Order: sequence, then C-alpha cells, then structure tokens
Amino acid sequence: MPPPITLDHLEGSTVVVLGAAGFIGSHLTDRLLGLGANVAGIDNLSTSDGSNLAHLEGRDDFRFVEADIISGIPYEGDADFVAHLASPASPPDYLREPLLTLRTGSAGTDNALGFAETKGARLLLASTSEVYGDPEVHPQTEDYWGRVNPIGPRSVYDEAKRYAEAITMAFHRTYGVDVGIARIFNTYGPRMRVADGRAIPNFFAAAYSDSPLPIYGDGSQTRSLCFVSDMVEGLTLLLASDLVGPVNLGDTREVTMLELAQAVQDTVDTHPGVEYRTLPVDDPTRRRPDTSLAREALGWKPTVDLASGLAATKEWFEVTQ
Ligand SMILES: NC(=O)c1ccc[n+]([C@@H]2O[C@H](COP(=O)([O-])OP(=O)(O)OC[C@H]3O[C@@H](n4cnc5c(N)ncnc54)[C@H](O)[C@@H]3O)[C@@H](O)[C@H]2O)c1
Repeated sequence: MPPPITLDHLEGSTVVVLGAAGFIGSHLTDRLLGLGANVAGIDNLSTSDGSNLAHLEGRDDFRFVEADIISGIPYEGDADFVAHLASPASPPDYLREPLLTLRTGSAGTDNALGFAETKGARLLLASTSEVYGDPEVHPQTEDYWGRVNPIGPRSVYDEAKRYAEAITMAFHRTYGVDVGIARIFNTYGPRMRVADGRAIPNFFAAAYSDSPLPIYGDGSQTRSLCFVSDMVEGLTLLLASDLVGPVNLGDTREVTMLELAQAVQDTVDTHPGVEYRTLPVDDPTRRRPDTSLAREALGWKPTVDLASGLAATKEWFEVTQ
C-alpha cells in the first residue's frame, strides 16, 4: 500500500475551480476552503445561477469571476491547482447546448491546460463514466476503452470528455503539465437543481407532487450512485496526490432504476408508482465502476449508503421545493 495522501499542502494554496458554481464544483469549493485553501471560482453560470456560492460572499479567501472558459481563464494571480469541472453535465443541458458542450470540453479544456502550464499548477480534470459509453465490460476498469457512438446525440458530451482526456494527456506528455484525470460516475445530493433532468431530481420532483415517477425504458438499467460528499473527498485526494490516472470515482453498489424509484418513494414516504417512457438513444444499460485504483492509490472509498444519501437529499429538496 502507498502512504496515505496528505491534504496538508492544500492549506494556504490557491486553487482555481472552473465550474465552481455548479453542483459538485460548489461542494468542492467548500471542502477546499475548509482545508484552508484560497479559492478562485470561475463559472459562466450557464447551468447554475450563483446560489450555490451565495454563502461565501464577503469571505477573503474566496473570489468569483463570471466568465466562459471557452474564451480563456481570466485570472491573473498565482495558482497552485486548477480543478476543471466546467461543463454541462445533465443530458437535458448538453442536448440543449451541443456545440457549447463540445467547445467547453475542447477549447475550454485547452485554455484550462494552457493556464495550468503558465502557472505551474496541477490540473484535475473532471471526466466521466460516459467515456465508457454503453460498456461491454462490467464493472468498468480504467483500461477499458469504451463503446461510444461518435455521432449519436449523447456524443456531444461523451466525445467532448474523451477529447478533454486526450488533450490533458497531450499537455502532460508534451509540456510535462502535472495532471490528474477523474472519471466521475453518477453523483447525487444537495444542490442538484430540481429541474436538472437527471433521475434523482426527477424522482424527487414527481414523488413530492404525488405523480408517477418517470422510468425510461423498462427500469432494469443500472447505475451506481455516489453521494456528493464522498465524490468531493475523492476529488480532493486526487487533487492533492500526484496520480495521473485516469481513475474511476464512484460508488460500486449498483441499483436498477426501478429500485431507485422505490427507494425515493420510501424516502419521501409517498408511493405514486412509476410511469414508463421511451428509453433515450444510446442510454447505457449497466454502469458500475471498478474502484480498485482509487482504493489503492488514493486510499478512497465511498462511505455514505443510499438510504442516508437520499435522506440528506430529501432535506435539500424540501427546502427548494
Ligand atoms: N454530477 C455527475 O453525476 C457527474 C458525473 C460525471 C461527470 N461529472 C462532471 O463533473 C463536473 C461537474 O458536474 P455537475 O454535476 O456539478 O454539473 P453542473 O451543471 O451542476 O455544474 C457545471 C458548472 O460548469 C459551468 N460551466 C459550464 N460550461 C462552462 C463554460 N464554458 N465556462 C464556464 N463555466 C461553465 C456551469 O455553469 C455549472 O456551474 C462536470 O464537468 C461533469 O461533466 C458529473
């Protein structure tokens, strides 16, 4: 076993968080501030509205710049780390903005890497399990190259992230930029938007209005759902480490969409049942990470079970309903 990753050197460091106003980016910002880092958040507020960062207003160790990373990274000071989470992430968001999604993953990531190179900073790329497409290998290991339809509607996201990984490795190999690539599997928790379009917000919204929960396809497709505090811990450890990866971060417990719908109804304590809808094109049938590398190299594994994570998410949706 390698020695455990220490987070001490994040204290007093400067971290530029791209996509800081989003669901995961705002939680990561909170965690980094809690560790004593100074954070500069950059976000174009395209899939967020700034409310996730409202509680940080007036702090000396946090500043926010509204900007689109496709045009560059408008930050003049020193930076020790860059956490690149900027990208639409929910299918309705990236299907609504296909070209911006591709440009964020390509030109935006190019800018982020050029910025990291200039500053001598380590860059963490938030990639995704979607690089595996609809996988033939189960569970997915990092050495599996994936099965992505390069011209399907979802390709704007999947291929943007595959390109983002490729250009990250090219900067690493060509210019020696210090990088770490996280392949994030489905993550949920407080601060997800009610109208985000992903399964958990959809299910909570339906359960609260006592309407049947929408199931796409027959509901037998699986996902592995990671609570956001666990994900943020994995990202923080990766940022603080010297691991290049890619490394899978996600929960290994697999649930079917029907089981998840039942669990949300039990959490909210209303049981309106489910309503079947057409499965979207190229929707993956099974998803579960092999997280051996994260366990061995980062000493990371998720700790929050689904029932506890859904209970915490319920509290959030109750406030925002
Ligand atoms: N949530 C998940 O389950 C999940 C799974 C896999 C990967 N990821 C990745 O993690 C990251 C964060 O996801 P999230 O769920 O927090 O999504 P999110 O939509 O809540 O946050 C993304 C943030 O990026 C910002 N953004 C988008 N394009 C930008 C641009 N061109 N310039 C500046 N800011 C821009 C948005 O305004 C938003 O605040 C994304 O890169 C996503 O691809 C998330």
